[in-house]
Amino acid sequence: MVGKVPIITIDGLGGSGKTSIASQLASELGWYVLYSGLFYRYLAYCQKNMTFAIHGDYEISDSLRDSLLNLRCRVNQSGDVVCLLANEDLSMVLSSESIGRDASLLAGIPRIREQLLGIQRRFVRPPGLIAEGRDMARVVFPSALVSIYLFADEEVRVQRRFRQLNRCGNDVKIDQVALMQSKRDARDRSQAFKKMDERDGVILLDTSKLSMDAVKARIYRALSEKGIIVNQPIDAIA
Ligand code: DC
Repeated sequence: MVGKVPIITIDGLGGSGKTSIASQLASELGWYVLYSGLFYRYLAYCQKNMTFAIHGDYEISDSLRDSLLNLRCRVNQSGDVVCLLANEDLSMVLSSESIGRDASLLAGIPRIREQLLGIQRRFVRPPGLIAEGRDMARVVFPSALVSIYLFADEEVRVQRRFRQLNRCGNDVKIDQVALMQSKRDARDRSQAFKKMDERDGVILLDTSKLSMDAVKARIYRALSEKGIIVNQPIDAIA
């Protein structure tokens, strides 16, 4: 099944726009979407609630794996992730900077990454999957049909993150966001995230310069070059 179902991977640092692009593509194409960062965030939330990683035990139990598989996430019209588990709304708690930091710390533990591999790959379902994160192209889905790497100027990413946190009810100052983001970027770069380039067959797109529509148009063009017919207006894929 994994070999036949088309996969688009979208990797990038926090604030690069990958969540918004992934969700818009998923709804336009009618494909499934995997927000892999939420897995690390959910594990961090469980760690905080003392239901995971107690005394350095990083084994993901069957029930925790089921919870990860049952997290229901979508992006609302403002571009924020709404995340439900058995009707409990976890959106605000999972979006916080402190959970982001703890998620990034847990993401540095190889045993955790190893166990999440199989769980993430279970999201591959027809008609297609859009997988966003840090290591989607390099590690989780190296045979993806189209791989995208999004980047943006640091100030632009900080502004986006600041606006998102405030919209979600997190009362933070922009300097705090900038500081936490630069620490998290440094950690993510050293453990999960390796910058890829065209030589790896990855399409690089700068979202500080390109509009959402331009980014999507480039991805639709890549899909059509791979023989995937997309029902988009012809000028959008030109
Ligand atoms: O994308 P995000 O901000 O929701 O991700 C939270 C943290 O999880 C991020 O700082 C690094 C980690 N992460 C990772 O290591 N690998 C992924 N595929 C996704 C996220």
